[in-house]
Amino acid sequence: MALISLQSNMLLLLASIAGLVSLGAACTPSATTVSGTHAPGTVCSGDLIFSDDFDYFDLEKWQHENTLAGGGNWEFQYYCNNRTNSFTHSGTLFIRPSLTSDQFGEPFLSTGHLNIEGGAPADRCTNPQWWGCDRQGTPANVLNPIKSARLRTVNSFSFRYGRVEVRAKMPAGDWLWPAIWLMPAYNAYGSWPSSGEIDLVESRGNRNMFSNGLHIGTQEAGSTLHYGPYPGLNGWERAHWIRRNGAGYDTDFHRYQLEWTPDFIRFSIDDVELGRATPGNGGFWEYGGFNSNPNILNPWRYGSKMAPFDEKFYIIMNVAVGGTNGFFPDGVDNPNPKPWWNGSPTAATDFWNGRGGWLPTWQLDVNDGQDASLQVDYVRVWAL
Ligand SMILES: *[C@@H]1O[C@H](CO)[C@@H](O)[C@H](O)[C@H]1NC(C)=O
Repeated sequence: MALISLQSNMLLLLASIAGLVSLGAACTPSATTVSGTHAPGTVCSGDLIFSDDFDYFDLEKWQHENTLAGGGNWEFQYYCNNRTNSFTHSGTLFIRPSLTSDQFGEPFLSTGHLNIEGGAPADRCTNPQWWGCDRQGTPANVLNPIKSARLRTVNSFSFRYGRVEVRAKMPAGDWLWPAIWLMPAYNAYGSWPSSGEIDLVESRGNRNMFSNGLHIGTQEAGSTLHYGPYPGLNGWERAHWIRRNGAGYDTDFHRYQLEWTPDFIRFSIDDVELGRATPGNGGFWEYGGFNSNPNILNPWRYGSKMAPFDEKFYIIMNVAVGGTNGFFPDGVDNPNPKPWWNGSPTAATDFWNGRGGWLPTWQLDVNDGQDASLQVDYVRVWAL
C-alpha cells in the first residue's frame, strides 16, 4: 500500500510539474448559474445540478408554503405542512388534498377564525397577501374548505438556464389543479408578471370535462410562460401550449421537460416538443406584442433578449383547487356541473355546497387518496 501511494504521489508530482494534472473530466463552462443552500459550488456543462428521487422527504430542499392566500385567484385550498397533504412513500412524493372540515369540523368553515401564523421558523405564514395568514369564515364566504400542499425550492435551489425533467402523474378528481412550475427568485424586473413565470405543466383533474367538444380535464396538459409589464398586460397567450392524451395524464407517469437557454425556452412531454418561445432581438417585449404601445416603459430594456427569463428561478409543485380566474371556465360540460361561477362573490361557499358532486370523484377513501394526489417520481435539473 505504502509503495503504491508513494508511486502515485510521485506520478502526481511529475504530472503537476509538467502542468498536466487533469484528474477526472475537464470542466466545460456552462451558461447555467445557480444559488441556494443545495446549489453546487461549481457548475460544469451537462452536470446534474439538482435532483430528488424522493427516497425520503427532504425538507431542506422543499419548503412548504403555509398560507390561505389562494394563489391570487381565490383558489379554495389552504396550503399547509401536514403529512396528510404531503408525504413520500416508496420513492414517490404525494401531494394530496383533504377536507379542512376533517380537522376543524364543518361548522368551523362558516363561523371559525383561522390564524395560521406560527412562531417556529417552519411555521411562519409564507404569504400574507389576499388575507393569506388570517381569515374569518362566514356563511357567505367559508374558510378555505380544502387542505393541500405547495412545495418550493426558494431557499435551497434556484438557477438560470438549464434542463429540467420531472417524472410525474397528475391527480384525478373534479376541480383539482396540479402544477409544476418556476417562479423568479429575486423579481429582478419587478413584481408579477414583470419578472416572469414558467409553468412546466398544469392540468385539470376532471375525468370527463368538455369545453366546445374538447376534453379539457385529465386528457389535457399545458405549458405556459407569463410575462408582461403589469398584471393586466400579460403575453401568456402567445406562449401557451397544450397536448392531449386520450389515456389521460392521470393514468401514468410522464416526463415533463423544460429546456431553457439564452436563445429559447422549449417544453416537451416524454421527449416530444410541445412548444417553444424563441424571441427575436426585440426580446419578449416584441414577442408579447407590447411594443405597439409607446406609452409603456419596457422593464426588460436593459436585460438580454430572454428577459425576464434571464434571471434565476426556483421550482414549485402544488395541487390547487378551483379558483375564480377562469382556469375552470364557466359553462363547461362536466358530469357534475361546476358549482360556482367565476364572478360569484361567494365562490368558496358555492364550491363547498357542491361537494356532493365533486367529493366522490376524489376517492379519498380509496388507497389513501392516491388517485387524487399529484405523484412525483423525481425532479432533475442539469446545467446546459
Ligand atoms: C394534520 O392534518 C390532519 C387531517 O386534516 C389533522 O387531523 C391534524 O390535526 C393536522 N395536524 C396539525 C398539526 O395541524
